[in-house]
Amino acid sequence: MQEKEITSLLSQMSLEEKIGELFQIPAYFIADGNATGPAAELGITDDDIRLAGSCLSITGAKKIREIQRDHMEKHPHHIPMLFMADIINGYHTVFPIPLAQGCTFNPALVEKAASIAAREAAAAGIHVTFSPMADLVRDARWGRVMESTGEDPYLNSQMSAAMVRGYQGVKNKLAEKGKLAACLKHFAGYGAPQGGRDYNTVELSDRTLRDDYMPAYQAAVKAGCALVMTSFNTLNRIPSTGNRHLMRDVLRGEMCFNGVLISDWAAVNELIFHGIAADEKEAALLAIRAGVDIDMASPIYIKHLKQLVEQGMLPEELIEESTLRVLTLKNRLGLFENPYKDANEKDEQELLLCEAHREAARKCAEESFVLLKNEDSILPLHKENDTVAFIGPFTDNQFICGSWSIFADDADCVTVKSGVQENYPCSKVLFSDGCPTTDPGEIIQGFQKSPEKEIIDSDLKLEQAIQEAVQTAAAADKVVLCLGEHRELTGEGASRASLTLPSCQLRLLKEISRINPNICVVLFGGRPLDLREADRHAKAILEVWLPGTEGGNAIARILYGDISPSGRLAMSFPWCVGQIPVHYNHMNTGRPFSGDFRLERFGSKYLDIPNEPFYAFGYGLTYTTFVYSAVSLSQNRLQTGETIFASVRVTNTGKRTGTETVQMYLHDTAASVARPVRELKGFTKVTLNPEESTKVCFPITEDLLRFHDINMEYKSEPGIFEVFIGPDSATNNKAEFELCHSIK
Ligand code: BGC
Repeated sequence: MQEKEITSLLSQMSLEEKIGELFQIPAYFIADGNATGPAAELGITDDDIRLAGSCLSITGAKKIREIQRDHMEKHPHHIPMLFMADIINGYHTVFPIPLAQGCTFNPALVEKAASIAAREAAAAGIHVTFSPMADLVRDARWGRVMESTGEDPYLNSQMSAAMVRGYQGVKNKLAEKGKLAACLKHFAGYGAPQGGRDYNTVELSDRTLRDDYMPAYQAAVKAGCALVMTSFNTLNRIPSTGNRHLMRDVLRGEMCFNGVLISDWAAVNELIFHGIAADEKEAALLAIRAGVDIDMASPIYIKHLKQLVEQGMLPEELIEESTLRVLTLKNRLGLFENPYKDANEKDEQELLLCEAHREAARKCAEESFVLLKNEDSILPLHKENDTVAFIGPFTDNQFICGSWSIFADDADCVTVKSGVQENYPCSKVLFSDGCPTTDPGEIIQGFQKSPEKEIIDSDLKLEQAIQEAVQTAAAADKVVLCLGEHRELTGEGASRASLTLPSCQLRLLKEISRINPNICVVLFGGRPLDLREADRHAKAILEVWLPGTEGGNAIARILYGDISPSGRLAMSFPWCVGQIPVHYNHMNTGRPFSGDFRLERFGSKYLDIPNEPFYAFGYGLTYTTFVYSAVSLSQNRLQTGETIFASVRVTNTGKRTGTETVQMYLHDTAASVARPVRELKGFTKVTLNPEESTKVCFPITEDLLRFHDINMEYKSEPGIFEVFIGPDSATNNKAEFELCHSIK
C-alpha cells in the first residue's frame, strides 16, 4: 500500500477500530476467534477480539492462516492481524542462549542464528519477534542475564545490531520472505534491578545510563529495528511504561526511533502497582501519553482510551498517531497485500530442524563454549586411549535449551550421551546420572512440558545413585562430570540469592574426586556461577551454557578435540555472591588496591576475597597457546579525523590449530569525569596453525574515545590514552598515545 492509502484507511476508521489496533491478545484469550473464559473474566468481549490489532504467542502456519482468514472476514475494514512471539534463540531449531551467543564474540554467527530463527518462525506464520534483548547485565543473581549478551556496551552493541540484521535482513525489507520485524527490549535499564531481583527498582545515574546501558539499545535502533518494548522497572523512580521523557524525548527524539512502541506484558496495568497511577484509566492515560502504542496482553487500552477521548482528557490525535504506526508496520510487512506472509505448511516441513539449520546451531554452540580451566591438558579426551566416565544429571538430559524455547520440542535435543555415542562410536565410555539437577524437594517453577525422566526424592535414593556413579568413576581414566543449573533456574522471574551448584551435585563432585582426580566439569546453565568448589575438585571446566538442540553433538566434538574451544566470557564470573556487581569496566576509585593486604589497610578491597572476579570478561582457553608481541602504534598522537593503528603479532606456540579472540581495550587516563579502567573497543578472531603467526591491527579514531563529559556532552577530551591488546580484559600488554584536539 502507498503511505497515503494507509492514512486514508485510518481516516475511515472509528475510534473503537483505531483503539483495537493498539490491543494485543495473548494466545489464551482466543479460541476459534472468540473470547475465552480468561478473557471474559477481564471484561474482554468477542467484539474486542474482532478488532484486535495483534496476537501474541500463537504459532503454526495452518493455525495462523485460519485465524487470520477468520479475523479479516469479521473485521470491518478487513485489516490483518500481526502475529508476534518470543523467538529468542531459535524457533524449532534452538541455538545457544543469548549469553552464550555473546561468548562467541562473532557477530556474523549471531546474525546467522537470528536469520535462521526468522526463517523458521516466518514459515510458521510469525511476523514480529520480541528480540533482541539488549539489556546490559552486571549481576548474575538476575535470572534474565541468560537473555542478554553480557556486561559490555561495545560487545552488546555489536550483538544487538547483528540480531536485528539477522531477523530483518540487511536492507530491512520486512515484507521479504523469511524476515521478521525485530523488537528491541526492554527499554530501559531492565538489566540493573537492585539485588538482582527480577522486576525490581533500577537506579542509574544519567551518565551511567547513557555511557553504559544505552549504546546497545542505540545500536539496535540504528540497525533499523521495527519495534521497541518498554521495560517493567522504574528507572530513577519513573516506571518506563509511563515515562514520557524517556520514550518521547530520548527514544524517539534523541535516538530517532520511529517504529512501534509496545508495552511489556501487562506493564500498563503495573503502573498502578508502581504507584504512579491511581487506577486503570490513569494508567492508560500515562502510557499513551508516553507514546506506548500497543498494550500487550491487557485490556486497559480498550477499556479506557475511548472514554478518555470522549471526556476530553486525551486528544484523539494521540491514538491516531499510535494506530498509524501499527498500520505502517503491517504495511512494511506487506500484510495488506499478503496477510499470511510466509505462513506455509510445506515450508515449515522443509525448514524446521532441517540439516542446515541443525548444523548452524551446532557450530554456534561449539563457538559459544568457554574453556575455563584445563590443568595437565586433561582435555581433549583421547578417542582410543581414554576410558571416560560421563557422569552427572546433564549427561543424558534433553532439557538443555533456554527457558524461552517455548515452541521447541525437548525431544529434538541431542544429549551429551547420544552426542558421544553418535560421533565417537568406538570410544571407551561409561555413563551414570549420579544425582538429579536439583536438590530433592527444591521447587522448580516453570513451563516444563514434560517431567524429567527420574525424580530422586529421598536422601537414600540419592546416596545409592551417587555410590553407583562413584563406582563408574573408579573404572575410568577420566571423568566428565556434566553438572549445572536446571534451565528453569534462569530466565524471567528466576532470580537467585545463591550462585552455587545444588548441594547434591557438589556432593557428587566431592565423592568422585576422592576416587578419581581426573575430573573435567562440563557446566550447563544460564548464568555465571560461584565455581570455587568446581575449581577445587576439577582439573578442567568447560562452560557450555544452555547449548540448544545440537548441544550434545557440539560438546562431544569439543571434548574429543575435533573442534577446539574458542568462546570467551561475555560476563565475569564472580568470586562469590558478595562480590556482585562485578564487571571489568569499573572505575578506579580513589584508593585502588595494589594487592598487598599487609601494607594497605585503607585500600578499596574486601578482606576475604580478591577484587578481581573468579574469571574475567573476555577470558577463555583453548587447546593450544598463543603469545602476543608488545603493542605497537602507527603514531603516538591522534587528531580528530585521523586514525591510529594499534597492532600486535599473535603466534600459536602450541601443538594444535586454535582460534584466538584478540581484544583491544582503551583507557582515558584523565578526563573531566571518572572513566572506566578500560573499555572494549575492538575484537577479532584469528585461527592459527602451530607456529603460525599473524599481525592483528585495530584502527583507533576519535569517536571511539567519546563519553558524556562533565556537562553531559558526548565528546572526547584531549589527553593520554592507554591501549591494551591481549587475550582478555585482564591483559597488561599496553601502549600509550595522546589525543590532541586541533585548534580551530
Ligand atoms: C517478558 C518479555 C516478553 C513478553 C512476551 C514478558 O513477560 O518480560 O521479555 O517478550 O513477556 O512474552
